[in-house]
Amino acid sequence: MKILFVGDIFGSAGRSIVRAHIGHLRAAHNVDLTVINAENAAGGFGVTPQLAEELFDLGADVLTTGNHVWDKRELIDYMDSAAADSHVRARRVLRPANYQPGLPGYGVYEGTTAGGVPFAVLNLAGRVFMANTNDPFHAVNDLLKGIEARVILVDFHAEATSEKVAMGWHLDGRVTAVLGTHTHIPTADERVLPGGTAYQTDVGMSGPYDSVIGVDKDLVLRKFLTGMPGKFEAARGGAKMCAALVTCDAETGRASAIERIMLGE
Ligand SMILES: [Fe+2]
Ligand SMILES: [Fe+2]
Repeated sequence: MKILFVGDIFGSAGRSIVRAHIGHLRAAHNVDLTVINAENAAGGFGVTPQLAEELFDLGADVLTTGNHVWDKRELIDYMDSAAADSHVRARRVLRPANYQPGLPGYGVYEGTTAGGVPFAVLNLAGRVFMANTNDPFHAVNDLLKGIEARVILVDFHAEATSEKVAMGWHLDGRVTAVLGTHTHIPTADERVLPGGTAYQTDVGMSGPYDSVIGVDKDLVLRKFLTGMPGKFEAARGGAKMCAALVTCDAETGRASAIERIMLGE
């Protein structure tokens, strides 16, 4: 089976480029499961329920997020509207599982593809250079004990390449894919690890690359040059969609291939 994972959608440029490509990509590869990191879909900061619904309309099965999950307060009510055992769209928007206990939303979703294959998606956040996060390595050990599906995708939303590579080895042979997000820069290290886990340190942003990781480059440069705080706004130029396409065995969950995808205007 095929899994399409789309990296952090950033602002309207990201939404447009994904809208332009996701349909033909899903059709051409007979994609069974589509997961999108949407943490920057709303102008770079968070995702609204309306934008989440648009991404589900485009074929997303599950949306993941990261440190920007709480930027749009209305997403909290949306997440709270879904019961833990529900399969409604609001239940399929995840936040990192290893945040403090008791927060709104969920970090794991278990479902079944249209073709009848059970799957799970886990959203984890790193601790290196990241705030408010609990140990993701022990957290994922605990989470995996409760998951029955063999096809398991992990979005590891983290800053440090070392922490992400370590997570790949930690989960090799135990999940189908460990795909990194958050840095907004795609890495060229995609491969299937020896135990059968597809891995890429960062899938990259789906958004405007004529920018500094999505933000208007002049605003960021001004901040670096002057130290003056300023309001950041999403850039628009150079839009690219970055994604990873994973091929795996539906019975065992073992990956056999991973392909790095970058599509432009
Ligand atoms: Fe992001
Ligand atoms: Fe992030």
